[in-house]
Amino acid sequence: MAFEMVAVVGLGTMGAGIAEVFARAGLRVIGVEADADALATGRGHVERSTQRAVDRGRLSGGERDAILGRITLTTSREDLREADLVVEAIPEVLDYKRSLFADLDRICKPETVLATNTSSLPVTAIAAATGRQGRVIGMHFFNPAPVMGLVEVVSTVLTDPALVPEISELARRLGKTPVAVGDRAGFVVNRLLLPYLNQAAVLLEQGLARRDDIDAAMRLGVGLPMGPFALLDLIGLDTAYEVMGVLFDETRDRRHAPAPLLRELVSARLLGRKSGRGFHGDE
Ligand code: CAA
Repeated sequence: MAFEMVAVVGLGTMGAGIAEVFARAGLRVIGVEADADALATGRGHVERSTQRAVDRGRLSGGERDAILGRITLTTSREDLREADLVVEAIPEVLDYKRSLFADLDRICKPETVLATNTSSLPVTAIAAATGRQGRVIGMHFFNPAPVMGLVEVVSTVLTDPALVPEISELARRLGKTPVAVGDRAGFVVNRLLLPYLNQAAVLLEQGLARRDDIDAAMRLGVGLPMGPFALLDLIGLDTAYEVMGVLFDETRDRRHAPAPLLRELVSARLLGRKSGRGFHGDE
């Protein structure tokens, strides 16, 4: 299937980044948000991100304008009638996603692929809200979406097997490497990454080492671009906490039980970059 007209529903950090990735690859993108304020915030994300690329000499002003020109913004889901692919990037609440997918199933043409960017919810449960389970798939991007090179392509027992290579090919067209995974909590990346991040919080709480020293140890000792606390702040402590909770629920493995320190920070709404302070931000 030729994916020429795509849509992204939800233009938070991830959704706006995903819309930018599609537009950079030359696809026309419809961005959908609930209201005008959220649309303006989403547009702001894309404008800042592309402006940064212009400032660094990675894009010309003309290319940036062309990217922005390929993105149409709307508050009406009904505008998605002609989309070949819809990627959902709304908050991680199963009921919201199921209700959105039921709506998309009604609005979109029968061949439209409905994809979710969920990092923690079962794609199967989202697909089951539609009458086109074979055309529902996970397309899991990583933060920041314009930079990170991976897309996890998540298929369920209901997904049409022919769809996996089609979506993988699309991911390559976006300049990403696709990895096919099954529908289990955390897929591959979060299943391996979140226990590490959680353990970093446990060690901090135990007083094994200071925050900045743990960050430095993992950057310099392992060659990671960011230490665990800087990365938790980037991901968002609420998102990380949610994913850990899902891993724990599915595996009942104590290693996945979220560190109390993380719970405390999330309760205090110290969520990382998105709220201005998390593990870092009090310096
Ligand atoms: N949006 C767009 N572009 C961005 C960006 C953003 N938010 N942040 C950085 N960039 C771009 C910069 O413009 C720059 O581009 P060029 O090389 O083309 O000039 C490039 O990324 C490098 O940026 P910087 O030089 O400013 O900073 P850096 O070298 O420290 O890189 C980083 C920043 C890319 C975020 C890097 O630190 C990194 O890769 N960190 C790890 C991120 C990571 O692990 N993400 C996965 C999180 S897990 C997840 O997302 C899954 C989930 O479900 C929870």
